[in-house]
Amino acid sequence: MTERIAVVPGDGIGQEVVPAAVEVLEAVEAANADVDFEFVEADAGDAVADATGVPLPDATYDTVAAADATLFGAAGETAADVILPLREAVGSFVNVRPARAYPGVDAVRPETDVVFLRENTEGVYAGHENRLSEDLSTLTRVVTSSASRQLAEFACEFVDDDRGPDHGDGFTVVHKSNVMRETDGRFLEAVHDVADDHGVDADEELMDAFATKLPMNPSQYGVVVTPNLAGDVLSDLAAGLVGGLGLLPSANIGEENALFEPVHGTAPDIAGDGVANPAAAVLSAAMLLEYLGHDAAGQQVRDAVEAVLADGPRTPDLGGDASTAAVSQAIVEHL
Ligand code: NAI
Ligand code: MG
Repeated sequence: MTERIAVVPGDGIGQEVVPAAVEVLEAVEAANADVDFEFVEADAGDAVADATGVPLPDATYDTVAAADATLFGAAGETAADVILPLREAVGSFVNVRPARAYPGVDAVRPETDVVFLRENTEGVYAGHENRLSEDLSTLTRVVTSSASRQLAEFACEFVDDDRGPDHGDGFTVVHKSNVMRETDGRFLEAVHDVADDHGVDADEELMDAFATKLPMNPSQYGVVVTPNLAGDVLSDLAAGLVGGLGLLPSANIGEENALFEPVHGTAPDIAGDGVANPAAAVLSAAMLLEYLGHDAAGQQVRDAVEAVLADGPRTPDLGGDASTAAVSQAIVEHL
């Protein structure tokens, strides 16, 4: 069966790393009889906004909504106007962010191997901000039992799943229910309730304590379940432990659709130079393969990236002098 993959490179190095990831997916397709992709390219971001006045054309939204999965690069100034609606287009309720250190890459904490499962629709990012007077602005934090339970159901399936890298059979819920008693109280209760139903072991940790303990001893954590803002900040903290943004993939998963993107942005300082590290985008493509059920192919891509990170060639962010194209070519050769 042909699967439709929407490809939205966006701005800056999105235009460099997404084509590299597509090249890897094409190599996977050529090597696996059961993988058949149709790539549909669509525009979004600053360049489109400059040309048309709209950062996310309806046609792009519709292409993403109708695809089986999407590979997205990055958008610049218009990032929020692009990525938030695209996450909605795929009905995403969880953002999956693995932070893993790789052999051969200089990392602050080489033993780090943590996956964040971040609530992706509510919390303080639900968009309810108000300016009430010259002096006063407020923000309403939204937490529903249903979204918390949906996240927890996903987490239970995630830790039960034998596919992909193993991160143990339990998870840690990170929260601040001692202060946000109502909202994080509800979140915590819902997550524990679902974990109990599934017989999954759920530890908990206050988010501030977690921010100290993670960098001191990352190996005590495997899968971490968090509200929206906490997951955004803490997964970036984890990114800092493993050697930088060029390595971190992510997935926005919905009930019937999903969008995969490197965690990094458009990197204006190196955009156009052809030296962006394609690893984060290629690892995002590996997550896309696994999401579509091509588990062996996803693992092959992961292994190929790991081999190239270990042996080179490497891009300048990892201390090398290779181009994006040389690295993606090496990944394809490993496949
Ligand atoms: P950034 O992630 O683009 O860059 C931060 C630093 O990391 C830069 O020094 C950059 O060169 C380096 N870097 C990032 N990815 C790299 C890669 N693959 N290879 C080598 N080096 C890499 O974050 P920054 O500078 O804060 O934001 C730049 C623009 O990107 C902004 O306009 C921002 O709005 C946008 N952005 C978009 C995101 C999205 O579309 N999801 C996410 C984050 C930022
Ligand atoms: Mg962030």
